[in-house]
Amino acid sequence: MRSRRALLYMPGSDDHKIKKALELGVDSICMDLEDGVAINRKDHARQVIAHALANYDFKNAEKAVRINPINNPFALRDLETILPVRPHAIVLPKVRFPTDIRKVSAIITEHEKKQGLLIGEIRLLVIIETPQALVNLREIAQADSRIEALIFGAEDLIGEIGGIRTQNANEVLFARSSVVLYAAAFQLQAIDMVYFNFKDLDGLAVECQRGVELGFSGKQIIHPNQVDIVQNAFTPSDDQIAQAEKIIHEYNIYTESGVGAFALDGKLIDAPIIKAAYNIINKARAAGKII
Ligand code: COA
Ligand code: MG
Repeated sequence: MRSRRALLYMPGSDDHKIKKALELGVDSICMDLEDGVAINRKDHARQVIAHALANYDFKNAEKAVRINPINNPFALRDLETILPVRPHAIVLPKVRFPTDIRKVSAIITEHEKKQGLLIGEIRLLVIIETPQALVNLREIAQADSRIEALIFGAEDLIGEIGGIRTQNANEVLFARSSVVLYAAAFQLQAIDMVYFNFKDLDGLAVECQRGVELGFSGKQIIHPNQVDIVQNAFTPSDDQIAQAEKIIHEYNIYTESGVGAFALDGKLIDAPIIKAAYNIINKARAAGKII
């Protein structure tokens, strides 16, 4: 699975921002056709995105497109225009039921067959941002083998619930951690909510750290200034990697002599700690920090 420490949105109608994104070294570039694009600009945005996918060099970045919700007729037009120019991933907003995902997947399969592409090559990243998606999370997470990540959408969710978004995000904690939990249960990535105040980089860093602690593997972003802070937050530090390597090294020595739990620097090391150490190593590897 590719690394998606940061997934950067830009309106699909804005060619300048798409070009700018190519130079940022961001893991995933998500050209938007949904809420970032005015209704009377959807057609134009489809053309701009199709041109970018066909002609621009995205380097190592993921080429993702957020389409309109599947129950909206715009979505079919989005897929018709975008699939022929080979995106890596389709981002699905406002999902409510597993059938929403399967409908999109079936359209993609038809397209892949027609084009002679590998079936399943195009991945799905599913945004969990409706109350229905939350109560159907178990089925949604298993709805289709194309799904690679669950993305948490805090603003839409709280809008539908009728709550109020706050800086400490307590109002979305249950939903936010549910997304991580179900993603982990079904071996999917979990991508955290957007920090909308893009000038407040200290606030962003705090929210990133909370996302890391909850278990997210990345975060959605909306501005170039957010790329480095977010990608660094979701990459293990040199100290964390060194510590993880030390734990695994010691563990291997102890297990060879038949010991499963031992003390290292005054702390107990046993199976869950080893698992956490491997998580760090895997994340560092996915981010290209170690081989
Ligand atoms: N992706 C790529 N480039 C972006 C960008 C983005 N999301 N947001 C801003 N930029 C570019 C600007 O075009 C500008 O480029 P320039 O210096 O070459 O002119 C530069 O970064 C600095 O931008 P800035 O002036 O600080 O912001 P702005 O006023 O142009 O834009 C927003 C502010 C919020 C409108 C813009 O960041 C944006 O469109 N974000 C994404 C919104 C979106 O996609 N929403 C849907 C998903 S939630
Ligand atoms: Mg949304």
